[in-house]
Amino acid sequence: MKTVYTSDVVEAAAFIRSGGIVAFPTETVYGLGANLFDAAAVAKIFEAKRRPADNPLIAHVATREQIRELAAEVTESAERFIDAFFPGPLTVVLKKRESVPLIATAGLDTIGIRMPAFKLANEFLQACGVPVVAPSANLSGRPSPTTWEAVWEDLDGRIDCILKGEPTEIGLESTVVDCTKDVPVLLRAGSVSLEQLRTVVAETIGIADDDSTVARSPGMLHKHYSPRAKVVLFDSNSEISDLKFEISDWRSEQCSFIGLGDPGRGFALVKLCGSVDEYAHSLFEFFRECDRRGIEFIYCETVEETGIGAALLDRLRRAAEL
Ligand code: TXA
Ligand code: MG
Repeated sequence: MKTVYTSDVVEAAAFIRSGGIVAFPTETVYGLGANLFDAAAVAKIFEAKRRPADNPLIAHVATREQIRELAAEVTESAERFIDAFFPGPLTVVLKKRESVPLIATAGLDTIGIRMPAFKLANEFLQACGVPVVAPSANLSGRPSPTTWEAVWEDLDGRIDCILKGEPTEIGLESTVVDCTKDVPVLLRAGSVSLEQLRTVVAETIGIADDDSTVARSPGMLHKHYSPRAKVVLFDSNSEISDLKFEISDWRSEQCSFIGLGDPGRGFALVKLCGSVDEYAHSLFEFFRECDRRGIEFIYCETVEETGIGAALLDRLRRAAEL
């Protein structure tokens, strides 16, 4: 298949309307979209990404009416999160309507819904005129794409179209919160932090506080966000020089560093981030750049587990397979 590259939302949306699959930018990462109501089109997403069939997709909407079109019931907590954070990097999980095909939700009776804040995403969704299910636009297991070039790298020739936009602002995937029960449960950390969710619904609980959570978010069981290189985490309090001494045959050309503090010499590639936001924004593209250069070890400084730092740590731990 020949992939069409365009910056025109109407041209990209035409592929969705005729049963194709299209990558498009959002404020978090690039997504790979299909018409939610077209089961055959949704199946193409799983095939193109080589995504396990048990991993549900997020529905992207442009309007509040579309939320009601998909959710059988918008619970009180969901209503409050929607008022506070939509449009934005938050996904609410709700009971789905019968009309939502099971392939979109991997057989679950719930559906994750989000309204992107990014202008081009919103214009694209308006032009599609239907809810668009979209996982991140990477091959399954690879880091999520934050540039259209990263989508090209993984999916050129496998999808109908790439809507080209700027690199994504946030760089990590949306926060996912299950709103189907009385107490909301954070299923995936993102830039809307647990602290922020609790300012809206105080009882919201975190992932670690609920044993049944893993079963509730099948996608979190799969291997994620991994570069080919080995990811090594280290604490900012421990000296990077200690770390180098621990490895007797340290070979600079194989090693890279990303973090907030200067690691000194001894790395082929260094990404110094001025803030935790910048670190989150840069992480996935840095992973990809390391793979392009054949780096073998990526040393990642850990950060404080607050705000977007919690989401960043989550992605770092998954990449390091901890
Ligand atoms: O920022 C994002 O959310 C991006 C952009 C494209 O919107 N999308 C994204 O999709 O990250 P994906 O498929 O890579 O991750 C979706 C996550 C998975 O961990 C999945 O298990 C969870 O959301 N999820 C989706 N629907 C769910 C549901 N009904 N119940 C529980 N978890 C769900
Ligand atoms: Mg993904």
